[in-house]
Amino acid sequence: EHSSRQELEVIHEIPLYRPFVEKWAQVESFQARPDDLLISTYPKSGTTWISEIVDMIYNNGDEEKCKRDAIFNRVPFMEMSCPGLLSGTEQLDTVPSHRVYTITHLPVQLLPVSFWEQDCKMIYLARNAKDVAVSYYHFYQMAKMHPDPGTWDEFLGKFMAGKVAYGSWYDHVKGWWEKKKAYRILYMFYEDMKKDPKREIEKVLQFLGKDLKEEVVNKILHHTSFQEMKKNPTANYEMMPTWAMDHSVSPFMRKGMSGDWKNYFTVAQNEIFDAHYKEQMKGSTFKCQMEI
Ligand code: PPS
Repeated sequence: EHSSRQELEVIHEIPLYRPFVEKWAQVESFQARPDDLLISTYPKSGTTWISEIVDMIYNNGDEEKCKRDAIFNRVPFMEMSCPGLLSGTEQLDTVPSHRVYTITHLPVQLLPVSFWEQDCKMIYLARNAKDVAVSYYHFYQMAKMHPDPGTWDEFLGKFMAGKVAYGSWYDHVKGWWEKKKAYRILYMFYEDMKKDPKREIEKVLQFLGKDLKEEVVNKILHHTSFQEMKKNPTANYEMMPTWAMDHSVSPFMRKGMSGDWKNYFTVAQNEIFDAHYKEQMKGSTFKCQMEI
């Protein structure tokens, strides 16, 4: 039954969706190519936003080309597996040459080793933990592959304990932060993109070695704004079957803002969270803006 919620299954200590775990061998043995660009994020950190930006860049700002298909088909989800559909790795393997890009939510230790061996370029996008927790709570409710999130307080506890799909946010951002010392990783922040999207798009262009005219950059800026993406059926996940995602519960393009956590965290939750955060991030130089 497609629509029934399932418990997560732990693989290499990371809770993950059961159908993904069933095809794990495909993920582990996936052969990345040197010109593959990997977009990596912890869930709900702006994956769709950065994917749309990258697709616009590779299509020189042509909106029509970027409407050729849903975002989840234009930018395959590497570890994705769903009965009856091609898995992410199968989709990628059917692209003959220059595949361009793929996304993953995997923590560094679970990424197929070929990405490191091939020294692929990678864009990592991080978002502050509190907004991620709020966004993830709503996503758990609307996307039926998740177990029941319970109350907000219960979900927040699971998030802090790393007992959600893809495990600990803290370990995820720190793991990728360490890797950028030795690999070609552009490490970006959702909060920076909200503050100055043009500057951030220019960073991506430079990282990819692309030079686009100012008017093209402005077109990308416009097309990838929250308001535009929210009404674009090829970007807003409306094209997902309703048994998988129910936008009437909570739209995929929900608020798209920084600091929405203030509408959800109680004072007590915030105090507990801050103390736990400090503990988890001790010894790391990772910094991210939470006071917006
Ligand atoms: S997923 O399911 O992990 O791929 O989700 P992801 O795309 O990473 O994150 C979804 C959140 O990103 C917001 N979003 C945006 N914010 C600002 N600008 C743009 N263009 C944009 N596109 C998506 C989306 O609204 C989700 O955040 P919340 O806080 O729930 O609104």
